Amino acid sequence: MTRTELQPPPNSTKEKKRKETHGKKERKEKENKRKKEIELFHCSSLLSLYGINTGISNWRELFPDGILYASTESHYSVFKAARMYRIECVKVDTQVSGEIDCKNFRNKLFQNKEKPAIVNVNLGTTVKGAVDDLDMVIQTLEESGFKDKFYIHCDGALFGLMMPFVKRAPKVTFKKPIGSVSVSGHKFVGCPMPCGVQITRLKHINALSSSVEYLASRDATIMGSRNGHAPIFLWYTLNRKGYRGCQQEVQKCLRNAHYLKDQLKAAGVGAMLNELSSTVVFERPKGEEFVRRWQLACQGNIAHVVVMPNVTIEKLDTFLDELVQKRSSWYEDGKIASPCIAADIGDDNCLCSLHKK
Ligand SMILES: Cc1ncc(COP(=O)(O)O)c(C=O)c1O
Repeated sequence: MTRTELQPPPNSTKEKKRKETHGKKERKEKENKRKKEIELFHCSSLLSLYGINTGISNWRELFPDGILYASTESHYSVFKAARMYRIECVKVDTQVSGEIDCKNFRNKLFQNKEKPAIVNVNLGTTVKGAVDDLDMVIQTLEESGFKDKFYIHCDGALFGLMMPFVKRAPKVTFKKPIGSVSVSGHKFVGCPMPCGVQITRLKHINALSSSVEYLASRDATIMGSRNGHAPIFLWYTLNRKGYRGCQQEVQKCLRNAHYLKDQLKAAGVGAMLNELSSTVVFERPKGEEFVRRWQLACQGNIAHVVVMPNVTIEKLDTFLDELVQKRSSWYEDGKIASPCIAADIGDDNCLCSLHKK
């Protein structure tokens, strides 16, 4: 994948000419910039391990006692990584939206002021699709006396590849003091085999890698051999769709997610959709058969639908019709009260008898 091919197409002749003249220079600059980063192909679970490992390995050099901070809504692979590396892990509370609660983060940092912080920032949480406020996390770290004593890994498994196309999404860039970003290739892009990409700074990789003589190269991986087809699928798909194609797909996902959320609410089903997300969270369907048929991921009282490019309005309508029909039998046409899910999705989104306006 070359980044130039994913830039928006030039919209004027003048712009085209300028691009041609500066093309060579730009390409050289980009090449140099790329040398600062490294890309690897694994799935995001392994990349959590890798991201945290990158953080730990770097801090281990200087500070052997770093603490991993991750919000309670972080993917389970983050906590698994902490167990595997036997690193102390502090869970940080979240807001109802699923976004990290920076007040609670600040409190937790104050309790461990003397130890460096390795922080997992979610660019789209697994269940609620919440995007942590990266700038606020950085500000909280700096204000709490952690300047130059922190490492941030951004977990963008699903939403990391959609974010660049969402207007109001926060900027994730290596101009900010982050250590690594990971994305899955089999989610938004739809690669047929599990894979992912991690971008990190070359200086961090140096702490992890070692020379392997028979390979005639350095190894910086956890797994060793990797799937060579995955990068080809990613490269092919991204190039076939191009910048505009990806942008249109993201917009379609967001539009369809809004449609689903609005229709659920219109049908009296409590539902929430985070502003930057295409993950619709709603009341857990009562019938297990329905949950299995639609392969819904459930957690406690809620379920979610992740609206991806393959999800059409027709499919959503079929889902909604079936859900409404089943619900009327589960709740005997309103004679039985549906559960309150305000704690999961907020008072405004819950449509139980107590919160319905
Ligand atoms: C936020 C987040 N991180 C990591 C993962 C793990 O991704 P993968 O399937 O690539 O292992 C997921 C999967 O849903 C996720 O939502």
